[in-house]
Amino acid sequence: KREDASVDDRLTGICELLQENVPYYDWVGFYFRNENKEELKLRSFAGEPTDHTIIPFGKGICGQVAVSNSNFVVPDVKAQNNYIACSIFVKAEIVIPLFVNGENIGQIDIDSHTADPFSKEDEEFLEFVNSQVASILK
Ligand code: SME
Repeated sequence: KREDASVDDRLTGICELLQENVPYYDWVGFYFRNENKEELKLRSFAGEPTDHTIIPFGKGICGQVAVSNSNFVVPDVKAQNNYIACSIFVKAEIVIPLFVNGENIGQIDIDSHTADPFSKEDEEFLEFVNSQVASILK
């Protein structure tokens, strides 16, 4: 559908803007719940392509956020036992759920090549980004 294509373009634009302007945001993507399935699907991203375009609920940092509905900040990915590695360069990750009408429908996922780069400000900023994205999805 035409409207869907333009939302995809806008989501890609947001990923690119974040990845290009924040030095420690090395990969930025939006995953959304696949309808009627217990899995996430990658919808748009900026950075190196990943093999992990489908992630089952509960698997990895992303899959855990799909079920916890909570922010997940990982200062050191090596310390996580339920983690899906996308690149050997990734040292840290942040995943913030995206709510529409109170429902967790997806998430923004950011990988960093810098160790322990994410602060409370990143969480608040990305919550704001997601709230803005929620308003273009309706
Ligand atoms: N590391 C994520 C998988 C997605 S890649 O970072 C793009 C995870 O553990 O869920």
